Amino acid sequence: MKIKVVNTANQAKDIDFDGHIAVVIDVLRATSVITTALENGANSVIPVETVEEAQSLYAASDPKKTLRGGERHAVKIEGFDLGNSPLEYKPKTVESKDVILTTTNGTQAIQSVKSAAKIVLACLRNAAAVAEILIREDKDVVIVCAGTEGNFSLDDGLCAGYLLHLLKEKAAIETDDYGILLERFYRHSAERLMDSLSDCFHVKRLKVLGFSDDIMFCLQANSSRCVPVEQQGRITRLR
Ligand code: MLT
Repeated sequence: MKIKVVNTANQAKDIDFDGHIAVVIDVLRATSVITTALENGANSVIPVETVEEAQSLYAASDPKKTLRGGERHAVKIEGFDLGNSPLEYKPKTVESKDVILTTTNGTQAIQSVKSAAKIVLACLRNAAAVAEILIREDKDVVIVCAGTEGNFSLDDGLCAGYLLHLLKEKAAIETDDYGILLERFYRHSAERLMDSLSDCFHVKRLKVLGFSDDIMFCLQANSSRCVPVEQQGRITRLR
């Protein structure tokens, strides 16, 4: 299995995904939010790029069955039902609902891999479950680290490294130099995930905004078996 690692959603726009599985990672916080929403019973998550798109899709939906979620600059969008904190996506809030979600980088990254044979969403919480799916499918993979405000984000790199580490334990994989670097970074950090991200721009920003509990939650590796997959504009649970 060949695995390429791409460091931002922007860079993904130049990649040929034909025949590949794309794995999109936005640990803080979009893919952690999506995994949690589906695990807690949401019917689906619909990723859109702009606030306007989210509003017009909502206007055409049944308001009793639909929620609007997302952020700009990590803060809840005015008038939306939910922000981008996974802790908001509780069973009683999301059960049987479709969530229209727009985030600064995560949902853009999902749009940028549309031509892939399959689109899987990963975060630290579901990394082991995602690794099992990739081994079962046995196709070449492109891991897309969504990034933050257009730049590479270390939380995504840590998760990419962890995923590579899990795959390496169970399958014959070949990755690029960036993948080698990130797998080594994960191994170096495995016993102290939080410390390894302490200087990360987005971690520092989320702390200042009062989202420390979100960071703790998103760093709980292998706490979910839920694997979200995107198909024709809608994200549902593969398992
Ligand atoms: C994003 O998609 O840019 C992130 O999920 C931002 C955030 O943590 O709110």
